[in-house]
Amino acid sequence: MVEPGSGYLACGMTGPGRLADPEEIVAAIDSEARKRHDLEGETVLITAGPTQEPLDPVRYLTNRSSGKMGYALAEAAAARGAKVVLISGPVHLAPPRGVEVISVRTAVEMRAKVMENLGPAHIVIKSAAVADFHLSKVPDQKVKKTAARISLELDPTPDILAELGRKKDDRLLIGFAAETQNLVQEARRKLESKNCDMVVGNLVGGADVGFESDQNEVILVLRTGETIPLERASKREIADRIFDQVLKLRLALHAANGR
Ligand code: CTP
Repeated sequence: MVEPGSGYLACGMTGPGRLADPEEIVAAIDSEARKRHDLEGETVLITAGPTQEPLDPVRYLTNRSSGKMGYALAEAAAARGAKVVLISGPVHLAPPRGVEVISVRTAVEMRAKVMENLGPAHIVIKSAAVADFHLSKVPDQKVKKTAARISLELDPTPDILAELGRKKDDRLLIGFAAETQNLVQEARRKLESKNCDMVVGNLVGGADVGFESDQNEVILVLRTGETIPLERASKREIADRIFDQVLKLRLALHAANGR
């Protein structure tokens, strides 16, 4: 059901009753047409986007993540029938249809919201590009240009994925590895050190795939030892292929555990 748009109406009144935006109608049809229902009954927790780590009241450290991959994953999971909670750093993207979006700014805030919403989640996907370092004591006032050179001493942020790996229970845990080199090796190292079931390896730094692009090309590194390359496609298409592999992996892990 697409609700009517709101605004100035032909009868002279203002309020709900206009034809909904064509983009909204197309998005609704598109999401219905893509529905596969194979995530019905599942709760999927996804993190997306960068984090912003304040340096003072006007400045912050961040990275080039656009959030597009995480939002595409949320949209794909919702279209396949899952209940989706998307914990998002600051991005310029519209909330996907049928998804609960929780906005956060810093790594510390993201950690708190992830832990708060972890309980019912069957699948957790950490696509956010979380800052690794922050200022643990942010000055109350703007830093002034009083010296010719200043240096920043940063402390590590909490590693949310590693913490999730320690309290994994029955959940499927999927991490991301954004690398500029040694992609598979780094993805496997993260899979093992953070106790994940799958790591989505993503080469970044090139012009046409990765962070700000609408396209992506990734390699899935699985707990079973397999490595599955996913050819270049739109992030929405890649999101569906990732969920196809997540569901296959769960069957394989259950079979291996005799369930
Ligand atoms: N991650 C996280 N919390 C952090 C840092 C990273 O949850 N403080 C998660 C990311 O969401 C991603 C995965 O860990 O799913 C890998 O992130 P990355 O920054 O590539 O890994 P690092 O552990 O920081 O490793 P390195 O700096 O050696 O590349």
